[in-house]
Amino acid sequence: MELITKKIKGTEDVLPKESYKWQFVEDIMRKEAQSYGFKEIRTPVFEHTNLFSRGVGQTTDVVQKEMYTFDTKGGESVTLRPEGTAGAARAVLEHGVLNEGLPVKASYFVSCYRYEKPQAGRLREFHQFGLEEYGTSDPVADAELICAAQSIFDRLQIRDIHLEINSIGCPRCRKEYHKALREYFGQYKDKLCETCLSRLEKNPMRILDCKSPEDKEIAKNAPKVTDYLCEECQEHFQQVKSYLDCAGVEYTVNPTIVRGLDYYTKTVFEFVTDYIGAQGTVCGGGRYDGLIEELGGKHVPSLGFAMGMERLLMLMEKQGIEIPAPSPCDLYIAPLGEEAKKKAFALVGKVRESGLFAETDVVSRGLRAQMKYADKIGARFSIVLGDDEITRGEAVVKNMETGQQTKISLNEDFITEFIDIHTEDVNRKVAGV
Ligand code: HAM
Repeated sequence: MELITKKIKGTEDVLPKESYKWQFVEDIMRKEAQSYGFKEIRTPVFEHTNLFSRGVGQTTDVVQKEMYTFDTKGGESVTLRPEGTAGAARAVLEHGVLNEGLPVKASYFVSCYRYEKPQAGRLREFHQFGLEEYGTSDPVADAELICAAQSIFDRLQIRDIHLEINSIGCPRCRKEYHKALREYFGQYKDKLCETCLSRLEKNPMRILDCKSPEDKEIAKNAPKVTDYLCEECQEHFQQVKSYLDCAGVEYTVNPTIVRGLDYYTKTVFEFVTDYIGAQGTVCGGGRYDGLIEELGGKHVPSLGFAMGMERLLMLMEKQGIEIPAPSPCDLYIAPLGEEAKKKAFALVGKVRESGLFAETDVVSRGLRAQMKYADKIGARFSIVLGDDEITRGEAVVKNMETGQQTKISLNEDFITEFIDIHTEDVNRKVAGV
């Protein structure tokens, strides 16, 4: 039989046997975010298109080339979010969260959509974990945010991931820098791609992250933003670095990092690795002091980062980092006959109520097939339940690993007896016996 369709190019499925890896990583991120005071925000997967064209920037690759934009039946232009920052900023503004005391700290897990050429580590639907903090211009906040990303990598036992930081200044120093870039790229007008030609006047900094190989080559010798920083931005950058030194976080200053989104000001940073091929940036972020104002709010200096979940998981796999397998089924009850099936159905319910994990037959299989299934799901204990057991009100629990058999009553003592047997086994394992 031929399938009527398959997944869309550039998308990925996470299957039941793999999802525990995502859950493990997400749990660590969630805990780490909480320990820094971040609370989760959830925003819609689509937004009015102007949020991204204004927020992310008209002249960025993301807005010019990569957005999934469509008109609704009501004639509104909407866009699947290409990233999480703009939606989170819109939501905190819209709900007056920024009037309730600053700083506001929000974390998120989002799916994102970018129409890029798919390759290893570059998808059209991908997932990000991100942190956003609103209402502080203090450089210690930049350093703290970077520490949060670093501690997530540390907790996940990721090695060889390098922090690269830069400052791209504020609108004041940007003016001078833009002038220098226009002069420099102006010499290559006949060589730049069409998109970059149009950027030359409007936003020459965007030429620096063009993906065309020819433009990349030209960009190599372009003036560096760090040579154009005003005093305040220089001082801010200096302070961020000294706080990072204080926290013992290692970094390299990379003056070529400008990031591909327009909202950034001052600090920008990326965590990069050589382990996963060309798409080696696992995390990117920085300060965006003007975004809230751009979206119609007051001046609220803010900052954040996002990590690509797929790239992170790919990196962990490449580094052979073991992710603990999910806890196996504690008890499988194999019923024989209708009466036993009802009893088993009731008993697994009790086991689940006690907080343990239990299964019974739901596909009318014979005993052999049931025991094969119990093996496959790694059940720690099993019980075979037939008419005899039901008449006697007693059955035998088998430890699937050791083969040890223990009697268990099927009346109201069932749960306490099972928990005793289970706990004994857990203790035996902890003691390494
Ligand atoms: P970004 O650098 O565009 O920044 O994306 C952040 C991370 O998402 C990247 O470092 C990468 O790991 C992952 N990523 C991006 N595009 C793809 C793709 N096509 N396929 C797979 N993974 C991808 C942002 O999105 C900003 N909103 C980050 C931020 C938050 N800045 C401040 N706050």
